[in-house]
Amino acid sequence: MLHNDNPTAAKAWKKLEEHAKQLKSQHLRDLFKADPQRFQKFSFEVDGTLYDFSKNRITEETIKLLTELAEEMQVPAAIDSMVRGERINATEGRAVLHTALRNFTDEALIVEGEDVLKEVHDVQRQMKDFCDRLHSGEWTGYTGKKVKHVVNIGIGGSHLGPQMVTEALKKYQKPDIEVHFISNVDGTDAAEVLRKVDPETTLFIIASKTFTTKETIANAHTARRWFLETARDEAHVSKHFVALSTNTEAVSKFGIAPENTFHFWDWVGGRFSLWSAIGLSVACALGYERFEELLRGAEAMDKHLKTAPMHQNIPVLMALLSVWYTNFFGAQSHAVLPYDQYLRLLPDYLQQLQMESNGKSAMRNGKFVDYETQPVIWGAAGTNGQHSFFQLIHQGTMLIPSDFLAPVNSQNPIGEHHPMLLSNFFAQTEALMKGKTEAEVREELEKKGMSGVELEQLVPHKVFEGNKPSTSIMFDLLTPYALGSLIAMYEHKVFVQGVIWNVYSFDQWGVELGKQLAGTIEEELLHDKEADHDSSTAGLIQYYRQKRK
Ligand code: F6P
Repeated sequence: MLHNDNPTAAKAWKKLEEHAKQLKSQHLRDLFKADPQRFQKFSFEVDGTLYDFSKNRITEETIKLLTELAEEMQVPAAIDSMVRGERINATEGRAVLHTALRNFTDEALIVEGEDVLKEVHDVQRQMKDFCDRLHSGEWTGYTGKKVKHVVNIGIGGSHLGPQMVTEALKKYQKPDIEVHFISNVDGTDAAEVLRKVDPETTLFIIASKTFTTKETIANAHTARRWFLETARDEAHVSKHFVALSTNTEAVSKFGIAPENTFHFWDWVGGRFSLWSAIGLSVACALGYERFEELLRGAEAMDKHLKTAPMHQNIPVLMALLSVWYTNFFGAQSHAVLPYDQYLRLLPDYLQQLQMESNGKSAMRNGKFVDYETQPVIWGAAGTNGQHSFFQLIHQGTMLIPSDFLAPVNSQNPIGEHHPMLLSNFFAQTEALMKGKTEAEVREELEKKGMSGVELEQLVPHKVFEGNKPSTSIMFDLLTPYALGSLIAMYEHKVFVQGVIWNVYSFDQWGVELGKQLAGTIEEELLHDKEADHDSSTAGLIQYYRQKRK
């Protein structure tokens, strides 16, 4: 069972409040000066990835108290409950077993009488066989031509993960297959992709856990109509449409045959599903072997989560630091800043993973929280972000903790580009941490010959407070294995945060209300019905009706 008490009642919470008061007056610059071993003390290498926590506003005492909080909130027992397959997603009555999707052990994992791993491995074999046939050219379109384009149609967890991974691992892309994504119900998304592909050589993957998501079903019907305009015969659909879903009945109603359906299970959360059949587009893009390397990277992180002590456990530390800044420093957002162009979609992916999971206000015991939960996640690839929003991180009024990520080696080592990129990566975290004091600014301006009123006016604008926390994450090269480990790390961070904030991380009731209302309004728009709305919504609908062509 998961712990369900208010975390603010924990003994460690009170101690952390006191400790935060003391630490707020200390500057990171001074903490570094006082301890030459700070980097060694707060950096950990796990599976070839270095996590440097030393530029965070922490001391050894902070880590001690935060891990006490994790113990009090029963994080180790919660991890155990998850990997054993208990129904920890209580509001939906489901287990949470994405770790089973990357478990390569031969042992059985019996959950409620079923060997979960056997079922997982059966679907993995089906995926491998499909990819092999696709890549060898044995699987052809209705005119006998090899498949050149794969279009994944899905949204949310059935889109963001596969798209981010496909983009991140572009360097490993199979040469003769191009993978595209359609997610938005805005017809422009489908139109722009369909413009680039050709019905004879295109395979559509309809990815939807529930197979009821309106956007995906609408896009799937559009793709099918578009295909049949050329192919003309329904019998050809089987060579061009496959489905990834837990809802076999709805898939077959749509007209996709069981042999073209890749199944997964309700114990796979949508935003945790890229390791399941939902990853088929990734496997099509890279080849199944590369997809398996991704899974193996995640499996290594799962082992780390289960075995590393709390104070050296990377996902646990990442979660605790987030709690530290959110609940004790009032931080309301967290930036994700990958210095790797291939990871440019990581912030988008992490937005769903983290905000859909822990953007909650009800505790597990049904009472409402009286403390903050999930901060806003945002970010963009470096160095681009430096020229748009970094100003605010450096000199704005909010405290914005950040994750900086970079590869030691580039997948595209052109000239001096990589050292230039990394110079910025190192420089930004150093600047955020150190800042620039008034004395330093004065000295600099005086050296330039400035003095008097002119100097006095400029000084405050050039002062950087510093003391802005960041975590640096460096991996050797962005391989499938390294990426798998990184994504799994963030997944576990989310879980541990949820345990501490005492929220259910694996449901998403908050997206339902908008869906319901959209359904009602769609009826009004399509069939000119009238319904009761507030004056703003009614006015907007009226405006649309008057202006539409
Ligand atoms: O946004 C709500 C949500 O249910 C997500 O959790 C999920 O990833 C997405 O919709 C897509 O759902 P499905 O895979 O069932 O189409």
